[in-house]
Amino acid sequence: MKRLFVGLLASASAIAFVALAAETKTMGDPSPIYGVTLPEGYRQWQLIAPAEEAEPLNELRAVVGNATAIDAYRKRQMPFPDGSVLVKVAWKRVRSDEFEPASVPGDATTVQVMVKDSKKYASTGGWGFGRFVDGAPADEEQHRTCFACHEARVMAHDYVFTRWAH
Ligand code: HEC
Repeated sequence: MKRLFVGLLASASAIAFVALAAETKTMGDPSPIYGVTLPEGYRQWQLIAPAEEAEPLNELRAVVGNATAIDAYRKRQMPFPDGSVLVKVAWKRVRSDEFEPASVPGDATTVQVMVKDSKKYASTGGWGFGRFVDGAPADEEQHRTCFACHEARVMAHDYVFTRWAH
């Protein structure tokens, strides 16, 4: 009986470990300055809101979050807790061949990531930034722009632009 109990405990902690590992697992090279990597499975994450930019980039976008970030949105928790990850996925905006007024996603352009770790990234509002094109991180110069813009415009919203699309 005792052995069974110990076995059960061991497998419960193994499951907890796997769950934790799944949450933080990343892939590919890290971004310069911040060392942020692409989080595994982000394409299955929940949508927070779509976005669009007209000229010059002409993009359709979607901002998604991991479970910690989504939970914070639900509870209107601000600042976002450590472990929150937000990802912005973008595509070229293309006119639909099948229905003129509609826009559809063309080629994927960039994937941008924000990771909350209030200690590690204390000097940039607790957020680490990563920008990726075809899975490869963009250069250092581009990463210098991230916090500057987010800080200038949305400091009061924990440096996050995207509001929940109800
Ligand atoms: C000139 C301003 C500007 C710069 C520079 C910028 N962003 Fe943003 N970012 C935005 C805006 C505006 C949004 C809201 C979504 C949209 O309109 O695309 C956004 C959204 C995001 C989001 C989704 C969470 C949120 O805040 O809404 C992530 C992740 C992100 N940016 C990462 C980055 C990274 C990484 C960089 C640097 C490589 C960067 N951003 C540089 C303006 C900027």
